[in-house]
Amino acid sequence: MIKKTVNKIVMKKVLVALLVFSVFSVLGVSEATAQKNVTTHGTKYSIKNGVIEFKEPKRAKGQESMLEFRAEPMKVVRVGFVGLGMRGPGAVERFTHIPGVEIKALCDKYADRAAGCQRYLEKAGMPKATEYSGDEGYKQMCERDDIDLIYIATSWQTHVPIALYAMNHGKHVAIEVPSAPSLKDCWDLIDTSEKTRKHCMMLENCVYDFFELTCLNMAQKGLFGEVLHTEGAYIHNLEPFWDAYADNWRLEFNQKHGGDVYATHGFGPCCEVLNIHRGDKMEYLTSMATKSVNGLAIAKKKMGSETFACGDHIVTLIQTKSGKSMEIQHNTFTPQPYSRMYQLTGTEGFANKYPIEGFTFRNKNIDHSATPDLEKLDEHDFIPDAAREQMMQAYMHPIHKEVGEIAKQIGGHGGMDFVMDYRLVYCLQNGLPLDQDVYDLAEWCCIGELSEASHAHKSMPVKVPDFTRGEWNKVKGLKFYMKGE
Ligand SMILES: NC(=O)c1ccc[n+]([C@@H]2O[C@H](COP(=O)([O-])OP(=O)(O)OC[C@H]3O[C@@H](n4cnc5c(N)ncnc54)[C@H](O)[C@@H]3O)[C@@H](O)[C@H]2O)c1
Repeated sequence: MIKKTVNKIVMKKVLVALLVFSVFSVLGVSEATAQKNVTTHGTKYSIKNGVIEFKEPKRAKGQESMLEFRAEPMKVVRVGFVGLGMRGPGAVERFTHIPGVEIKALCDKYADRAAGCQRYLEKAGMPKATEYSGDEGYKQMCERDDIDLIYIATSWQTHVPIALYAMNHGKHVAIEVPSAPSLKDCWDLIDTSEKTRKHCMMLENCVYDFFELTCLNMAQKGLFGEVLHTEGAYIHNLEPFWDAYADNWRLEFNQKHGGDVYATHGFGPCCEVLNIHRGDKMEYLTSMATKSVNGLAIAKKKMGSETFACGDHIVTLIQTKSGKSMEIQHNTFTPQPYSRMYQLTGTEGFANKYPIEGFTFRNKNIDHSATPDLEKLDEHDFIPDAAREQMMQAYMHPIHKEVGEIAKQIGGHGGMDFVMDYRLVYCLQNGLPLDQDVYDLAEWCCIGELSEASHAHKSMPVKVPDFTRGEWNKVKGLKFYMKGE
């Protein structure tokens, strides 16, 4: 009797389990969905047919796409800077060298940092800017009606609240990298930019570096054939810097959040060459990270932490709609040479930046009038150094032809920072679409949270959201707009 009852109970349990399983199967949802799937940023996700998916909110009424958005041209760009720690003051100085700029305001949480930047204005013979300080000093700055652009170089944790406040008060924003640390941040910036019709650009400087921009020009002219695979990285041992970040914001972020937390330097140039959301789109990614050894040791010493979310080394692979692949790596914890990797593999050629710059081309594709010294190419090796220099000259990007030399003199990572700032101001002055739009920002930043989710599930594929909401194929190819276009 007891045996029969026990059997009945067991059967009942089995039936319930089968029922639950079949309901989930019919819905295409795995059992894992029943668990709490949530990232360290608090974003929930589901797992469907073995793929992690994040919600992609619909565009609200009253919002319009910002693809190729043009603001009214402005003769003079009036700027307010916020975040004047290690990175910000260089930007203030660079802006004093750009014609048609007025620096109206300087803001940092710490008053002495804002005051300290007046020296660049004084040196350039510019009037003093108004100073703002405190955690919310930026609000007063954004509420002014004589500022067009807010330039944000604060901690990652403060980028988005400042940018949203600025756009909601009628300002264009340019935000340091990574502008949006979470997916919610990405969508908030997109929605606010679309709603307010204000530019929201990430200050990704590496896309303007000399090798990368020349390669982009070569790729657009077909020298590499069809570019099939790109690689990028941020490999930079930050040991000497961890103590220098204001209020320890960077180590705290890495302690809390895993994934590729600083992807954009290596990733931006890869996405540009592959025309992401300008004819192609990222479909899914998968990511794998090492355990944290050095990161944890630093955090233990500095913060007493027993855990550390960001692995010492993380690798992410991405597949695009048109069958291309990308690899991106992050490591700010172990001693090794600085590298952003930057590698292009095309059907007709190859480019590599770190650790040595080089190209491989097919002989028949070379313009021998541009490289007279080059008679025959070894397609198994890099072209000779002298020929590489000739090719770099012959395929110099028009932007570098215009400002490359002055950029090298003014500086900022060898000149690329000045090229970036110059282009931002140039496009605003001439009412042109900016080189990087808010969808680039989201695509390059989302890698952090998506890779964290993949790693948390044994490298499970993660669907990459379409931040353009279906318009990824509307614009054909990346273009840097020039006056009159
Ligand atoms: N593109 C590049 O090559 C590059 C290089 C370095 C840093 N960065 C980026 O620049 C940003 C700043 O980095 P950093 O190295 O200068 O850090 P930092 O800590 O030296 O400077 C950040 C500054 O922001 C200020 N700040 C924080 N909250 C604020 C608030 N609410 N209002 C006003 N000011 C506030 C801090 O007081 C500090 O002075 C980060 O996003 C970083 O990733 C980019």
